[in-house]
Amino acid sequence: MIILSMVIIVQPAFPGMTYQGMILMLFEHIDIRCLHIQNRFVRSASHEWMAQEDGTPTPAIGDIYEDLAKHEIGLIISGYSYVRSSGRSSQHQQGIYDDRFIGPYKQITERVHKYDSKIALQVVHGGRQALVTPEYPQTMAPSAVKDSSSCKTPRAMTEEQILGTIEDFAQAVRRAQEAGFDAVQLHVAHGFLLSSFISPYTNRRTDDWGGSVENRTRIIARIIIRARELVGQDFPIMAKMNATDGFEDKGLDAPECVEIAVALERAGVCAIEVSGGILEAGEVMSRPGINAPEKEAYFKDYARMVKQAVGIPVMLVGGMRSRAVMEKMLEGGYADMVALSRPFIREPELVVKFRKGVLEAECTSCNGCFDESGMKCNSGR
Ligand SMILES: Cc1cc2nc3c(=O)[nH]c(=O)nc-3n(C[C@H](O)[C@H](O)[C@H](O)COP(=O)(O)O)c2cc1C
Repeated sequence: MIILSMVIIVQPAFPGMTYQGMILMLFEHIDIRCLHIQNRFVRSASHEWMAQEDGTPTPAIGDIYEDLAKHEIGLIISGYSYVRSSGRSSQHQQGIYDDRFIGPYKQITERVHKYDSKIALQVVHGGRQALVTPEYPQTMAPSAVKDSSSCKTPRAMTEEQILGTIEDFAQAVRRAQEAGFDAVQLHVAHGFLLSSFISPYTNRRTDDWGGSVENRTRIIARIIIRARELVGQDFPIMAKMNATDGFEDKGLDAPECVEIAVALERAGVCAIEVSGGILEAGEVMSRPGINAPEKEAYFKDYARMVKQAVGIPVMLVGGMRSRAVMEKMLEGGYADMVALSRPFIREPELVVKFRKGVLEAECTSCNGCFDESGMKCNSGR
């Protein structure tokens, strides 16, 4: 009887406390600049295939984000949103290349802000992984390196195209702020345009935009300088960066990724999400078959190296399924926040379940959620 009443008193004391009375770092708040985030859970960017054909976000996307917000996810990062119409990489991808998108996005951010969650817009240009269409028959990238996954060779960008792209990203940041987003995340991962600038495999330039780490990150530094003129000093600009391209014998990898992270921090990025993989390298980004704790958190060693070198919050993404592993990533100094994609597609309510004592996500990493008819969990389990 006495024990029972103790449990009842302990359980609801505050959100960081579980049924077992343990205080988990996962449920402690964190600040990214002046952005206060209620816990350490991030919904990593996840393309929904639900925008209109021209990129206008739909209420169906808002339904997903509102559901995540209702279930206490600290920071929601949108699916990747393209900053120029020629920079689209997928059907039904959301866009942010025109002021007409501000209104529809505003409706979405207002829905999220009914709760304590924060929401960031991920901004991208597809680069060498952009869609080839009759309107845009030629992709562009820092250098003309053939993409063996699509058999397409992009055109090396001119100085004018690079300067135009900086403006495109900066205007996208402004639109995000006007639409009520709490932050933006520059997509510097997975082989898209900015990611292809930081990689020595896809960036072979010998001018100011290639070669040294400083040169390969220059486009990002310039985007931030221009964006700051438009949005002021306080609006958080984060980045998701590749720590590895995913090849064994070439491309970006440790230890150079640490230098890149330091350069991004110097450029004004205020939080870094550590990821990896480009299309050509296969299933590096969303690894299948995560069915044991030792397979989880497959970018953790990169994240720890980055975290040791920078002073800004580091988010780790990739294959985290069990609460204990996530907590260990924070306690063990691998990261400050944990970012999840596939588990939240199956269980948008996962953070609440973890808080109440559930230990494992149901996600089986089957990758059936990459569903062009609309992102959803297609696992029969
Ligand atoms: C359906 C789906 C869509 C995704 N779309 C994006 C995206 O728009 N931008 C991005 O940076 N990563 C995207 N990712 C990658 C995830 O954010 C994440 O890095 C990866 O899936 C590994 O994390 P997980 O094991 O928690 O799923 C996507 C993943 C999935 C499953």
